[in-house]
This record gives sequence, C-alpha cells and structure tokens, in this order.
Amino acid sequence: EQSPTGCPVSKRAAAFDPFEDEYQQDPPDYLRWARDQEPVFYSPRLGYWVVSRYEDIKAIFRDNITFSPSIALEKITPTGPEANAVLDSYKYGMSRTLVNEDEPAHMPRRRLLMDPFTPEELAHHEPMVRQLVREYVDRFIDDGKADLVEQILWEVPLTVALHFLGVPEEDMDTLRKYSIAHTVNTWGRPKVEEQVEVAHAVGNFWQFAGKVLDKMRLDPDASGWMQYGLRKQKEHPDIVTDSYLHSMMMAGIVAAHETTANASANAIKLLLENPQVWQEICADPSLIPNAVEECLRHNGSVAAWRRIATKDAEVGAVKIPAGSKLLIVTSSANHDERHFSDADMVDIRRDNASDHLTFGYGAHQCMGKNLARMEMQIFLEEFTRRLPHMKLSPQRFSYLPNTSFRGPENLLVEWDTAQNPERKDR
Ligand code: HEM
Repeated sequence: EQSPTGCPVSKRAAAFDPFEDEYQQDPPDYLRWARDQEPVFYSPRLGYWVVSRYEDIKAIFRDNITFSPSIALEKITPTGPEANAVLDSYKYGMSRTLVNEDEPAHMPRRRLLMDPFTPEELAHHEPMVRQLVREYVDRFIDDGKADLVEQILWEVPLTVALHFLGVPEEDMDTLRKYSIAHTVNTWGRPKVEEQVEVAHAVGNFWQFAGKVLDKMRLDPDASGWMQYGLRKQKEHPDIVTDSYLHSMMMAGIVAAHETTANASANAIKLLLENPQVWQEICADPSLIPNAVEECLRHNGSVAAWRRIATKDAEVGAVKIPAGSKLLIVTSSANHDERHFSDADMVDIRRDNASDHLTFGYGAHQCMGKNLARMEMQIFLEEFTRRLPHMKLSPQRFSYLPNTSFRGPENLLVEWDTAQNPERKDR
C-alpha cells in the first residue's frame, strides 16, 4: 500500500484503527511506536495523515490558515444514502460554529462572543455548581458504592452546560442520547443499520436546537451564552448569523457537557488508580488545581482533533499535499517524552502540566476551558473531602468507539460508609 505521495505504508500504519478497543483504552500507548518511529504517517483505513508528536501538533494548531479546522465536525465515516435521506428529512443543516470556522470569519465572531467566558463572569456560576455537586453526592453517600458516571458525572456537567448556554432544563436522558448520537455521527464508525438510528437522533437533536432557539428569541434578555449571542446578532447580523446560532445551539450542548463529563470521569479514574496521589490531594486540597491539569494531560477527554491542509505543506519533514486530512492525536502529544519528562507518570506537581493540548491551542483554543476546570476542581474538592476513602471497584472499562471524545461509560467505586468523615464528625 502507498500513501497519496507514493510512499510505502508501513505495517503498523496500515493496521492503525482508532475504532478498536486498544486505541480507546489508551490512545497514547497505542501510538507509542509512532511517536518513536514514524511520527507522521498515512492511515489508509482512515484516509487521514496521523500526527503523534507534541511539537508537530502544536505547529499545526499554530497555523490555522494552512491547516484549516473546517473539517472538525465533519462525519469521519461517511454515511450511506439511507442515513443521509433520514438526515435530509429533518432538514439537518449543521454548519460552521466557531470550532470549524475559517478566518477571516472566525476571529471577529470569537471576540464578539467571548465575554461570558471571562473569569469574572464564570465566578457567578461557581456557587450553583458546588450546590449541585453536593446535592448529587448527598443522594449516594450512604450507599457505600456508586457508578459515578451514571449518578453524578454525566448529569452535573449537562445541567451546568444548559445553565451556561441559557437552555431551560430539558429531559436529561433524551439530551444524553442525542449527544452520544452526535459523537458517533461525527467521530465514530457506525454500522449501516446503526447509522439510520443515529441519523434519527441527530435529526431530532437538530430540530430540538431550532425550537429552543426560537423560544429564546422571545426572551432575548434572559441570561445565557446563546441569548448573549442573540443580542450580539442585532448589532452584527453578518458576524452572528442564523446558521451559526442554530449550529452552535446543537454543537454547544455537546461541547460543553460531554467533554467535561468525560474529563471528570477520566480524572477520578486516574487518581484512584494512583491511591498515593489521591491520598496526597485528600490531605492537601491546594494541590487540586495542578492535579486537574495533570489529569487533563495524562488522561484527557478529547483524544484527537482534525485539520485539513489548504495548500501543500510539511509536518515534521513529511510532505503533506493540499487537501490532505489530518488526525492530530493530542493525547499522544501529551505523552511525548520530548516535551514532558517521565510522560507516563502521574505527577501532580509537574510544572508544565498545563502545556497539554487537550483544549487545543492557538486561535481556536477551547473557550470553555475555565468552566471545565472549575467543574473538575469542584468535583475533586467535594469527593476528596467527603469520600477520601473511596476506592475503584474491580471492573473493565468500556468506551464509546470513536476517534475523539473519550471517557469510561461507567465508573464503579465503593467505600465503607462507617468511615464517612461526616458520620465521624457527628
Ligand atoms: C473548542 C476541548 C469544555 C466550548 C475546543 C477544542 C477542543 C476542546 C479540543 C478545539 C480547539 C482547537 O481547535 O484548537 C474541550 C475539553 C473540554 C471542553 C477537553 C472539557 C474538559 C468546553 C466547555 C465549553 C466549551 C465547558 C463551553 C461552555 C468550546 C468552544 C470552542 C471549543 C466554544 C470553539 C473555540 C473556537 O474555535 O474559537 N474545546 N472543551 N468547551 N470549546 Fe471546548
């Protein structure tokens, strides 16, 4: 087999398959050989160039003109005519938001919509997040066991996301189903039978987003990032377009909640797998902010992102022809020894932990990163204080097969309720 530039494809490059469990379980370990031997390779199965090293990925993020983000939300596995007809029947029209918008349109829109993400604005949300986490923990603290994903880590970030966006609380289970369908549709490899079911959920999600937006237009002074966008549209209709708002309404729910839910589950899993580290942060909660960065580096919730070359380019001395698609495996970059010493070690005092690329980098770097960090910190503060004796239950972790959004589907933990600090205090 050959790459589009006529180079032979190595055995390992030919075998690369990000929909396999090996990639899901541990993407940086799955790509260790590539970081060492073939840091940029063509994957014939995927039809993408795969980039695995820190410096190469950062250089790609830095140049969003040569490496356009326009394919960031495109279906990685093209669907068949049946699924496409289903999507058409819902008038599905997901288009540019921010994450997949090119310059010069992107930056003015990003600037115009940035204010609700400033630390001062985010501080208003903190008491609500803490209250919510406490209430959810109250529900299971006397049970001695929990599935943290099912019982808190999914719903709290979803509630916070809806609150931040300004969406009235909806049926959580339906939104969870829609979000998973969106992830499979965008980054997965659904079988033909599954594609149709996914297409119905995605189509319904699109229509739901439109209806929510119509309702918001009736009360544009309400709080929320989407209402903020509606108000900005009045002054700058050319920058904040209807198509943007409808697409963002749908993509925003996923961007704001699934990423954070998965990141929180990955973080707690990683810390409980390293009990001495867990005990350290229980004893000294001031370690939590850097521990959150280290968890995002070591076991982040976005494993890989995408770009397309707008002209002939070079990545790590490999020639990439115009029109090539790139899978930039940020989780692999985060374990690159060339940038992070003892990269596989969990070191919550690491001084460059926040150099990780889990939030991307440059012009499109995640706008919600500080909201996500706040939620993760509050989860860790509440868990280390109220359940310091929590342990992982024996289990095998499963992941939704896809290239990018990664977190365990369940996270079973257990503890001795007689040892709950709250009981001992009484
Ligand atoms: C963009 C990851 C949480 C809103 C991005 C990008 C990544 C990412 C990888 C693309 C960066 C790039 O192309 O350079 C994450 C992770 C999160 C998280 C890992 C949680 C741990 C959130 C939250 C929100 C949010 C909570 C909203 C409330 C956005 C927006 C963009 C974005 C609006 C587009 C920015 C632009 O293109 O200018 N995020 N995200 N994200 N994220 Fe997040």
